[in-house]
Amino acid sequence: MRVKWKRSERVQIAVQKSGRLTDHSLALLKRCGLRLTRGAGQLLAVAENMPADVLLVRDDEIPGLVREGACDLGIVGLNVAEEQRLGLAAGDLAPRTVRSLDFGGCRLAMAYPREGSARCAAQLGGGRVATSYPRLTRKFLEEAGVEAEIIPFSGAVELAPRLGRADAICDLVSSGKTLAANQLDEGETVLESRAALLASPTEAPAARRELVDLLKRRIDAVMQARETKYIMLHAPREALRAIAELLPGSESPTIMALEGSKDRVALHAVCRESIFWETLEALKNAGASSILVLPVEKMLE
Ligand code: PRP
Ligand code: ZN
Repeated sequence: MRVKWKRSERVQIAVQKSGRLTDHSLALLKRCGLRLTRGAGQLLAVAENMPADVLLVRDDEIPGLVREGACDLGIVGLNVAEEQRLGLAAGDLAPRTVRSLDFGGCRLAMAYPREGSARCAAQLGGGRVATSYPRLTRKFLEEAGVEAEIIPFSGAVELAPRLGRADAICDLVSSGKTLAANQLDEGETVLESRAALLASPTEAPAARRELVDLLKRRIDAVMQARETKYIMLHAPREALRAIAELLPGSESPTIMALEGSKDRVALHAVCRESIFWETLEALKNAGASSILVLPVEKMLE
């Protein structure tokens, strides 16, 4: 039997419709247990198994939707959230950034044409900066004590210098490939960004509060599980102390007897930090063998 929920009980979550955060955002929500059905090109994905809907919208619409309470939660880059926050009138409440997420890392940075006259903000005096982030850019330039004209661009900012429209740009950089392809050199970082979970400025209405809180807890658990590894190894009993000290972020390990072996035992431990090859090599040097590192699917404490 399918349980029905009233519209007012359904948590609304805004996610970028198409862009670099889309896949990660939907994957995160699915790992939180939402079974989403979405037809091709549909702007609404309904969860079959709980009262939640995912709205697929343009990323610059997300902070506004969350701020007005049209959506309870939203996933958007900090770059977009901060740019819009700077545009709020005094007294307007901004959406709350309730979680910093573990994807979508990039930076908003100044970039200068390789052949241009300005190579850093200090050399810009009176020049023009093209950007889709006029408020963050202005704030950065003001704080740097640089006078420059902001040229608002809605796309293809990288072309502005070549078109003779700007002496520098301020845009998102991830791999740096776009800048390189346009003969631009990266300069000052204006904002370090990554995906963020936004929630409305006021607490969610009672009908949806419980699920909003549950989703936040599950997001934490998913991110923690992604950071966590399960390690199994064999070790001589006398090396256990040294080996336990090498395990990153682990609590007391489980030690088990190995059938037919008096001095070697099996050790299992949960590690809350990444395990690098260097750690495995150090474990081996300390006497460990048969070392296995496994991903953790889910965890609840
Ligand atoms: C962003 C940004 C750059 C590019 C940087 O654009 O505006 O163009 O990514 O990435 P890179 O350093 O890895 O080359 P995006 O593709 O998100 O689209 P948009 O410009 O249309 O927003
Ligand atoms: Zn771009």
